[in-house]
Amino acid sequence: MTTVRPQDPAGPWLLRTEHTVYAVRLGGEGRWAELAAWGPHGAETGPSPLDRSRRTHFITPADAAPAEYIPYGLRPFTGADLTVRRPGGERGLWWAFTGAHYDEGIALRLEFTDRPTGLRTTLRYATVPGTDVLLRWTELHNAGTEPLHLERLDSAGVTVPVQGGARLTYLAGQWSQEFGRHQLDLTRGRFEMASTQGAPGHAYAPWLAVQDAADADGPAYGVALEWSGNWHITADAEPGGAVRVRAGRVPHEGAVVLQPGGSLDTPRLACAFSPEGLDGLSRVWHRYERRLAGERLHRTRKVLYNSWEATGFGVEADAQLELAVIAAGLGVELFVVDDGWFTGRHDEKGGLGDWRPDPAAFPAGFDDFIGKIRATGLEFGLWVEPEAISPASRLYAEHPDWVYRIEGRPATLVREQLLLDLGRNDVQEFVIGTLDRLLTGHDISYLKWDMNRPPTERGRPGAGPAGELDLDAAHVAGYLRVLDHLRDRHPQVTVEGCAGGGGRIEHATLARTDVVWSSDNTAPLDRLAIQYGYLHAHAPHTMSSWVTDAPGVFDPRPRSLAFRFVLAAAGVLGIGADLRHWTAEQRAEATGWVARYKQERDVIHHGEARLLGTPADAGCGVQYDAPGGDRTVVAAWSTGRLDGAPLVPGRAVRLRLRGLDPGARYRDTATGTEYSGAHLLHYGLPLAWTADHDAELVTLVRQ
Ligand code: GLA
Repeated sequence: MTTVRPQDPAGPWLLRTEHTVYAVRLGGEGRWAELAAWGPHGAETGPSPLDRSRRTHFITPADAAPAEYIPYGLRPFTGADLTVRRPGGERGLWWAFTGAHYDEGIALRLEFTDRPTGLRTTLRYATVPGTDVLLRWTELHNAGTEPLHLERLDSAGVTVPVQGGARLTYLAGQWSQEFGRHQLDLTRGRFEMASTQGAPGHAYAPWLAVQDAADADGPAYGVALEWSGNWHITADAEPGGAVRVRAGRVPHEGAVVLQPGGSLDTPRLACAFSPEGLDGLSRVWHRYERRLAGERLHRTRKVLYNSWEATGFGVEADAQLELAVIAAGLGVELFVVDDGWFTGRHDEKGGLGDWRPDPAAFPAGFDDFIGKIRATGLEFGLWVEPEAISPASRLYAEHPDWVYRIEGRPATLVREQLLLDLGRNDVQEFVIGTLDRLLTGHDISYLKWDMNRPPTERGRPGAGPAGELDLDAAHVAGYLRVLDHLRDRHPQVTVEGCAGGGGRIEHATLARTDVVWSSDNTAPLDRLAIQYGYLHAHAPHTMSSWVTDAPGVFDPRPRSLAFRFVLAAAGVLGIGADLRHWTAEQRAEATGWVARYKQERDVIHHGEARLLGTPADAGCGVQYDAPGGDRTVVAAWSTGRLDGAPLVPGRAVRLRLRGLDPGARYRDTATGTEYSGAHLLHYGLPLAWTADHDAELVTLVRQ
């Protein structure tokens, strides 16, 4: 790495991704770094769109600057990224630039030092090869002599110039309603999303897209925070026609104390750009997540059966085997026993922490049961909630000090349970030991890791002043350590991430799991909306989805078995229905769908995915193009907003495909119909919905 101190502060450092450039320069006579350009290659040549008149009234120049990362003190009014307080002293930093390390086009470090406190802040930039993602984070080092209280310690700030206000797209909801896609136009003021639930939470995904409201089909900028704990993202629409987005951790104790000699890295903020709007942006994120999966992307994600919705807490070997035999007959590859398999777990009240198979559920022994499941040809998987503990458990009786608590305060129960302090080393060792025992002692190839309650009364008595414990970061580190251990020690085990549905889905989790459970809501039309939002931010190969018997929770209109299968096949197919009650016809149809999915899953998991229409349109779908473009799979659903056909005059719904070769011919493998690429791009793929025909999985092969 070369060390470069720019001779000319106006001359920017350029970071280049596949199709994007991100240009940073010094501003304010070298007191801060600011964004000069972010867009397609070449966008850096010309006057910066973020340049302003430089005249500022009633604010400081720093307040108006498109600052990359700037402390409170230097930027007193319009929002800082870092707020530092000296105990008994002032609140604020007035730092100076002290050096840059530039790995041309690929990585950059910019260092700023505040001499009175001794705080050294390094802005880090790293491009991600093969993607249009730039990672940004910040390193903080206290080289001074007194502890520093970091009240705000964001990862990064990014500025997007807009002419008609900012069109913000975000994913919001609540338990069983995750990933609803919302949009608002922000012309002035502040937008904020946050979680203090020790996890990203169900209310908001730590993900935001920004476009110019004057050109809402135009370029899209996105950020996503890689952090499994408390977080916030804010967007400030500034007077000068720009929106500044800041993202980072939220310290549970109000501040993180950085002791003399101490260092801290903020979480990474992934910054993505696409000239092709939200659709293009989603593909940037998909590609990034395929990269996050590393070599494990190429492991086949098996079709699973999970018995939770069929049997609930009433796990009992014979009934499970009956389900397994039917599932195996449908072509399912993996059988997962969910909650309810361990001692004391008859309902929500007990058992968590005592991770031993319940002898009453498996009278001939757990290994005998697993052996019988495997004899049907299925692999075997198990549900665990390693961070949870039931007050009635043996573990709690033995280690009451392992849970979060505050001396002299009541302990709030959520879902009848408490939470282990996974930041403690002994708790991490217990969890690792438990998982090692289960995974080495039994023939288990799949683990669903759940977490069903956020921390309350978050304290660790006897561990020092509460304000000096960074419990949120400690929990995240413990969680990631155990996930890393699973990958290292049990690489053959596929891991599914879950937190009461989609409560903990972000890049740190996605990098260490193979799939995630986006929601507990498996009702067809509700799930369609959830998956539609989910796929804006996350890749299909991560999206575990089941066909169930569930009626609509928010939309009770019935949907066909085909609809449910095509919907679950849009990601990683599973079945969660009570198969014992399915008719021979239903089972035969299911067998066909499972076989069909197996033929197409390589395209669904490895291809480029495009969202077609929305759940509010008559037709809604996802198009998956195989790498190279020789095969295209379209999953399409009727949302129920029919145009009248065939009862009254009407025409088939058309889904306009994208990205095909207009001059090529494409053949529907089921019907033999041939289309030109131009036809599919211009008119779209026809889908003649009726009340009974409400979904299709179409395969088009390029001739
Ligand atoms: C959570 C999960 C579900 C299921 C139950 C079991 O709600 O999201 O999928 O595992 O717990 O208690």
